[in-house]
Parts: sequence; structure tokens; C-alpha cells
Amino acid sequence: MAKSSTAAQHQSDVYQPDKSIVENAHVKDYDTLYKRSVADREGFWADEASNLEWYKKWDRVLDDDNKPFYKWFTGGKINIIHNAIDRHLQTQRRNKLALIWEGEPGDVRTFSYHALNREVSKFANVLKSMGVRKGEIVTIYMPQIPELAIAMLACAKIGAAHSVVYGGFSVEALAERIQDAQSRVLVTADGGWRRGKITDLKGIANEAMGRSATIEVCITVQRTGQEVYMENDRDFWYHDLMGLPIASAKCTTEEMDAEDMLFILYTSGTTGRPKGVLHTHGGYSVYTSTTHKYVFDIKDEDRWWCAADPGWITGHSYIVYGPLINGATIMMYEGAPNHPYPNRWWQMIEKYGITILYTSPTAIRGLMRFGDQWPKRHDLSTLRLLGSVGEPINPEAWRWYHEVIGEGRCPIMDTWWQTETGGFMITPLPITPLKPGSATKPFFGNEVAVVDDDGKEVAAGEEGKLVLKAPWPGMARTIFGDSDRYVEVYWKDYEKQGWYKAGDSARIDEDGYVWIIGRIDDVIKVSGYRLGTAEVESALVSHPDVSEAATIALPHEVKGNAIYAYVILRAGVSGSPDLEETLRKHVGHEIGPIARPESVTFVETLPKTRSGKIMRRVLKARAQGVDEGDLSTLEE
Ligand code: WTA
Repeated sequence: MAKSSTAAQHQSDVYQPDKSIVENAHVKDYDTLYKRSVADREGFWADEASNLEWYKKWDRVLDDDNKPFYKWFTGGKINIIHNAIDRHLQTQRRNKLALIWEGEPGDVRTFSYHALNREVSKFANVLKSMGVRKGEIVTIYMPQIPELAIAMLACAKIGAAHSVVYGGFSVEALAERIQDAQSRVLVTADGGWRRGKITDLKGIANEAMGRSATIEVCITVQRTGQEVYMENDRDFWYHDLMGLPIASAKCTTEEMDAEDMLFILYTSGTTGRPKGVLHTHGGYSVYTSTTHKYVFDIKDEDRWWCAADPGWITGHSYIVYGPLINGATIMMYEGAPNHPYPNRWWQMIEKYGITILYTSPTAIRGLMRFGDQWPKRHDLSTLRLLGSVGEPINPEAWRWYHEVIGEGRCPIMDTWWQTETGGFMITPLPITPLKPGSATKPFFGNEVAVVDDDGKEVAAGEEGKLVLKAPWPGMARTIFGDSDRYVEVYWKDYEKQGWYKAGDSARIDEDGYVWIIGRIDDVIKVSGYRLGTAEVESALVSHPDVSEAATIALPHEVKGNAIYAYVILRAGVSGSPDLEETLRKHVGHEIGPIARPESVTFVETLPKTRSGKIMRRVLKARAQGVDEGDLSTLEE
């Protein structure tokens, strides 16, 4: 990419795409297609939806009779699996690699579309034999192994919904999610590999099943071979079930209504309880495949690697569903990027000829620290596009990614989106002139604005709240079991205008480029992972020595943000370095290692409003040694 800059361009460099990229891109003219997509939103999405196979075509593209509970493609009959697998079997893609998987110890497994279909069908029949029915929610708690994707796809095939709980979460996080979803069936593994160590997934699953009473059947994949506790009548080995005659490789894909539930995925919000964000078969299929195709310019010869974990929305939309619908070859890796050496990723890019890498700024910063010599040892010339997601990318990391990994050749797609949006909302295309640190412009059909509390657009370059002004097919339909909360959290603030509040602050520069600043609620992005201050606080308070807790996020060089905790101990208990360590571990045990606070400070009081709300903003200002701002509501 050629670099050009003028003083007017927001004090930052602009990277123009090479001619060859523009010539080969699916979309060669953003402005024209964008204008059309917002002028005739339904027409645009109907065209995209027509690229998929429907059992029955929709009656209405957008049904907005009951705002903000928008529906898409109502009357249509579809199953995401028909599009992600079945239809490819009728074409030359049948023998194309769907999945290349490498385990951390170096074991490799590959699946053609034909082979993937067999595994998915077999496991779908196993689930059916366990009585799993349409509409039921199966919880999946797994390391990054092929069976994680297979289990998700098998659920969708028979019309059951999945709730994947990230394998890095721990006991309370898992128990709470199982309980909320009322899952009867849990699919897990004995463990997984991470930095040369084995994680104890089945142990955690057992403890979680002890805390939530709904699970009747637990199916365990043998990954590591360590000894695990299995209970008669409840526990089954995956490989035993897959060997039974019942696990036939023939299974009919269930016809679903476009608006039928595909999955729920729990994500953190401002209160302690995680929200089960609900997505559906029709709109989500259309949105993930369209965004993936245009933004990453997917071609049949690509080898696509989204290095997220399938346990988060990025993995759902862009490891599993979007890429499979597009018939891509997917790379999936089980372990840590720097194990056994910091060249692990670069080695795999070379070995498999990866053409597109999509990852988080945290991973980039983490690998950048080890120096250029690690990537430089490898031939990365197959790469043609790069991507970033999860948190704002700082220009320094952007430039390193661009120059060292992309060898100055690969544009970086900095995609802004959320669990709730299902897919990319603000993002460049390969043809977009790039400014390091900006997610650039809205994807087709979307209208975004940065506004004040009254909904008035702020001036160019000024900070405000990010809102989405129009519905899109990939939008969450509700929060599972709590539609009031859905309205309250996302739609209440700009009810009059009918806008979706993203919960992020941002600014839009004079060229219309969007710059995301960060969360404005009590959500924290740690290493790109989404956590709630309230979840960490309730984990701390669940320890017998703790009476009250408050957590804040402070900037961290690699993780983007890190969690700092302030704790009031129960009378008679005194703080010590040992207790600090115990509490950090306790949070790790309850939620997961990613939630472990950087430090725990023991305090006598916490700053609160007169109505008793903790003023985290004051704690944060104090920790950073900056002005505490308006303290008029602070309690004496
Ligand atoms: C943040 C992840 C800046 C943002 C897909 C958002 C980003 C939250 C970007 C959603 C980006 C995501 N630049 N910030 N490119 N992408 N975010 O639900 O704060 O885990 O609201 O979805 O991540 O996190 P979630």
C-alpha cells in the first residue's frame, strides 16, 4: 500500500490501496453501493439474501411492525446449515477443505466439506437420540477443537439452539449460563492444551453441574486423556456415542423459520447477570456471509484464519458461520500464539499458506513485544489481507501489523461490531483508504452517528455516543428471557429517534471516518474479551472475607485495559499480600483467568453517591491522579 498524507487529513497518515487490490475486489466503488444500500435498504438485503438457498422465499424483507423487535425475511424458510454445508456438497466444494485444525502439541486434523457433513450429521443424530428437540438450548463448553464447531453445527442442523460458553470461563460463569438457558444437555471435553498445560474443563463442568440442577446429559470429548470423573447415567464419552449405530451419517437438515432461534451467546452488561443475546437463522446467515464476503473479499482459493475463540461472537460469526456459508477453507488453532515459541502463528501461516489473518490488537501487541525476528524468519507472502477486532487498535500496533506481518502489502480491516450486532458494522473494505486506528465507514445498509444525550449530532472530531440509526439483518432479536432488558439497555435512551445505543464513545472526523474511543458503560474490554465490572465485583463479594468490592479498568500496554479491584473486608479480617493473591485466584476460579484483577487494594470506604451507587469514575480518577470531576453527588 502506498502511504500519502496531507495536513488536512486528521493528523494521520492515509494508506491508499494498491491498484491490484482494487481491481480484484468484489466491491470496487464503495460510495455508489453504499448510497444505494441506504436508499433502498430492503432491496439491498433482498439481493444479498438471494445468494443463499431458501426452502421457501420470504414474504417480507423487514418487518418493523413491533419496534424495536425487528424481524427479517419473515415467512422465509431456511436453515443456516443448508447454506453452510448441505448446498456445498452439490458442487465442487464437496472435496474442498472446510477446516484445517492444529492442536497446540502439533497434531493436525483436516475436514473436507464432505467429511465435515458426516461428522455434523453423526453428532446431530447423537443429540437426537438424547432427546434434543427443536428450540431446546444445548450448552457447549469446549476448548478450541473441531468438535466445538461440529457440536454447534449439529445443534443448528436439527433446529436446537446452542449456547457456547467460552472455554476460558470457569465454574460460576458456566453454572449461571447453564441455569439461565435451562440447558438439559452439556457438551464438553476432558480438557484442552494451553501453553503446554492441560486445562481442567471436565472438572469445572462437574462443579458447575453441581451448582445448576438442569443438566441431565453431559457428553465429553476426549482431548487430553487425563482422568476425569464421570457419573453413571449422566456422563457419556463423545467417541462412544459416535461409534453407535444411532450415529448414522445421514441426517435431514431441519426446515426452520427465518426468525427461529439459532443460538444465544452470553455477554457482559452493566449488571451482574450476563445477557443471552439471541440470533436467528435467516438474518444472521445473510449478514455474516455478506459482511465476510465483502470486507475480506473472500475468494474460493483463500485460506481464512480468524484467530479468535469460537466461544465469543467473533468465532461464531467469522470462524464458523460466515466463512462456511461462503464455502471458505478455515484455519483453527487450539493454543497460545507464543507456544512453544513466539513464531507459532507465523509458522502456521507459512505452513498452510494462509491468505487472510483476522485477530485482536491485544494479540498483535503481545506478539510485537517479541520483536521482528520471529515473523521475519517465515515466508508470509501468501497473506493478502489482515483484520483487527475487539478493541481500538493503537497506531503503533497497526503500523507494525501492516509493515512487519503484512510486509506493507496487506490492507488492515479494522472491524467494529458487537455480540449484539452479529457482524461487522463499521469497517473498511479492501479498497478503502485507511487511517491507522480508525474503523473507517459504515458497512452497507448501516447508518451511524455520534450524538450527545439529546440525540444531537456532535461536531466533526468531537467525542459523543455512538448510535446505529437503522436496523440490519444481523441484529440481535432480544435478550433471552428478558425482552424488557433488551429495550432498556439498547433502545431506551434514543427511543424517540428509534436508534440503537452501542455503549461506545466515538468521534467522526471531517472525512466521515469513525474513531472508536471505548466503552461508556461498566463493560470492560480486557485483551479484547468482554467482561462486566459487576461480574468481577460479585465474584469478589462471593468470597467470605469480602464485604464490598468495586472494580475499574485502567489502560494497559498489552491488554488494552486491565482490571483493578478495591475491596472492603469484613470486620475482623485484615488485608495482606496473601489475601490479595487469594482473592485474585478466587475471581479466576469463579469467572476465569481473564477476569483476574491486576491488583486488589484493601480500603476502608468506597466513594458512593448519596443513593449508595459506587462512583467508579472517582476511583478511576484517583488511580490515575487526575481531576475527580464533579463530586456534588458524592456522599459525605
Ligand atoms: C469493542 C466483539 C474498537 C467495542 C466483536 C464494542 C471495538 C465491544 C472494535 C463489543 C474495533 C469491537 N475498534 N473497539 N474494531 N471491535 N470493539 O460484544 O467497545 O465482545 O462495543 O464483540 O468491543 O465487544 P463484543
